[in-house]
Amino acid sequence: MSKRVASGIVPVIRIDRNAAVPLHRQIYDAVRMAISEGRLRPGQHIPSSRLLAKELEVSRLPVLNAYAQLLAEGYLTAQIGSGTAVSGQLPDRFTSTAPVQKNGGASAREGSRKVAQRTATLPSYRMMPWTRNWGAFGVGQVAADSFPLQTWSNIVARRSKNMSVRSFGYGDQMGYLPLRQSIAAYLRTARSVSCDADQILIASGSQQALEISAQVLVDPGDPVWIEEPGYRFSREVFALAGSRLVAVPVDDQGLNVSAGIKMCRRARVAIVTPSHQFPLGVTMSASRRLQLLQWAQQNGSWIIEDDYDSEYRYESSPISSLQGLDNNERVIYIGTFSKVLFPSLRIGYIVVPRDLLGHFVATRRATDLGSPTLTQEVLAEFIGEGHFERHIRRMRLLYKERRSMLVESLRTSLDAACEVIGAEAGLHLTLTLPGLESDYDIALRAASQNLWVWPLSTAYSGGAARNGLILGFGSTQTADIPAAVRKLRGILLNAGSSGA
Ligand SMILES: Cc1ncc(COP(=O)(O)O)c(C=O)c1O
Repeated sequence: MSKRVASGIVPVIRIDRNAAVPLHRQIYDAVRMAISEGRLRPGQHIPSSRLLAKELEVSRLPVLNAYAQLLAEGYLTAQIGSGTAVSGQLPDRFTSTAPVQKNGGASAREGSRKVAQRTATLPSYRMMPWTRNWGAFGVGQVAADSFPLQTWSNIVARRSKNMSVRSFGYGDQMGYLPLRQSIAAYLRTARSVSCDADQILIASGSQQALEISAQVLVDPGDPVWIEEPGYRFSREVFALAGSRLVAVPVDDQGLNVSAGIKMCRRARVAIVTPSHQFPLGVTMSASRRLQLLQWAQQNGSWIIEDDYDSEYRYESSPISSLQGLDNNERVIYIGTFSKVLFPSLRIGYIVVPRDLLGHFVATRRATDLGSPTLTQEVLAEFIGEGHFERHIRRMRLLYKERRSMLVESLRTSLDAACEVIGAEAGLHLTLTLPGLESDYDIALRAASQNLWVWPLSTAYSGGAARNGLILGFGSTQTADIPAAVRKLRGILLNAGSSGA
């Protein structure tokens, strides 16, 4: 197969045919200017002379002349077989990418570049390096090495080759119907969720499902119960929607409903993770579930059930959903394929109470018009052919093994004062570190050594009641776990923690 010569993007070049300056000089100046302003960067390919001539509607000769001069002066380099690119060794003055100061200095900028206060409260990516890297103890990471890639890629290839005309257009805003039917069947059977396909709304992961729910359910200033400690990304979605967050404590039975009622009876929404509380791992007790449902019914409030990883339970059979107990359609159930398949799939779903369907669909439409059809078709086929069920069964065994190794390694390496909690289900557990000054510093140090633990304190919206670390075990191979725990022990020892 012949290698394709890379062809670059055409830069903005304005040609004036009436100008006294010849065409080749105008093209030379424009390309040189694009390089000096950083619009064309070192290493970037430029369009072929034939393509540029066509785009500018000029003959090829002036383009060839301009390119020849830029090559001769070292602005461009030509590699046989791979086209012409901006030189990697430009003088400094040509590689500056500093923003051009327009309309005055910093103070003028501050005044005119105001952003909403709500976004200012969100932490930057740089402050949380552990959320964006793949490796030992990464939270929310799965066993990529055990994913049935061949099966998946066969379906992707088959589906791509046979794309119907309908697949090219905007899809159903609720989501691809066969996928919604498979999800509904799965939820009814495996999670005791009471639903039909016409109530399932596909979203881009639970995160977008939460965002749509926030848009539909709360007005700015409305009080919302969140779990304390809890999942920071759901907290942030509701904060962005302008909610007044009420941090309700979690105890060994899950969200403390009585405490919530005392703090703010009239909350609009309660967001809970009843099957496997994030991050403490508690399963909400039956009496708390009934109390929560009763509160919602009496108060006209909504419950968001974030059922993000309940497929994996290691000590007992899966626990029924809260939604399945609800006779009054007060629960909005949210699920995701991030843990059972992989997070970059970005497919989650909402089981919407029937009377809210119109609001949810209209809001989803206003948000992004729908999820990619091809991905949904592939997923529907993957589930329909039985690969999904098989994968969950295999992964349950694998994750159980990884979890057991992690629990054992932590217990043998660390001080008895450290407690391992929430290891009965899911893909992460929490290690409490009593007496530790800052779990945030430990997590930063760990990240610099390729261990991607999350500090427990960041799961609290107010002052942290406990310091500790959240450790994922989904993507860490069983054999690698003891060494990774020893490394963590070294970090704790260096920090003078009583944990080691
Ligand atoms: C509590 C909770 N909800 C939801 C998710 C998954 O989010 P998404 O479906 O957007 O990937 C996670 C992932 O770690 C989680 O911990």
